[in-house]
Amino acid sequence: MKRLAVFASGTGSNFEAIAQAIDEQRLNAVIECLVVDNLTALVIEKAKKRNIEVFAFDPKSYHSKNEYEKEIVSLLDRKKIDLVVLAGYMRLCGNVLLDSYEGKIVNIHPSLLPSFIGKDAIGQAIRYGVKVMGVTIHYVDSGMDSGKIIAQKSFDVKETMTHEEIEKQIHAIEHELYPETISKILEGKL
Ligand code: GAR
Repeated sequence: MKRLAVFASGTGSNFEAIAQAIDEQRLNAVIECLVVDNLTALVIEKAKKRNIEVFAFDPKSYHSKNEYEKEIVSLLDRKKIDLVVLAGYMRLCGNVLLDSYEGKIVNIHPSLLPSFIGKDAIGQAIRYGVKVMGVTIHYVDSGMDSGKIIAQKSFDVKETMTHEEIEKQIHAIEHELYPETISKILEGKL
């Protein structure tokens, strides 16, 4: 069974979607641990309810990013993690993490990359007035939302759609596309 570590900073709806796909045997894997960089993230409760181990690292309590990531890498090594899944982890990966796990870290981003990188990608796209929006899953490198693209899914933005409806549509796509894509990666189909 392939072993996942999910990294998150916020709500955790993608974490939940991945866990549910595992429950429903659409994804043949186990979430070994949740790593959070935000001690009050809502995702923590979601993991606890599922008895998934939570490791909360406060980056501010380390002297440097290297020190912070060294501790994370030693956890990932200890847990023999096959794939690191960033699911709303709002932090760039540094050298220490990439040197050990590059090629084994994937991220989901709520835009059709390379458009609208960084924070509030949905808001950026709405303000720009694009007529097609979507979701990207990509490998992680040292840049911001810049690694090799693995999967994308788009939808047409209707004139009448509100911000809320667009967000809902993005999340619905994410919750299907992420587990499905992780499954293909683990099966060596991508
Ligand atoms: C998701 O929409 C994800 O694509 C985005 O954060 C949200 C996390 O939601 N990630 C990024 O913007 C990364 N640059 P969740 O906590 O409910 O899964």
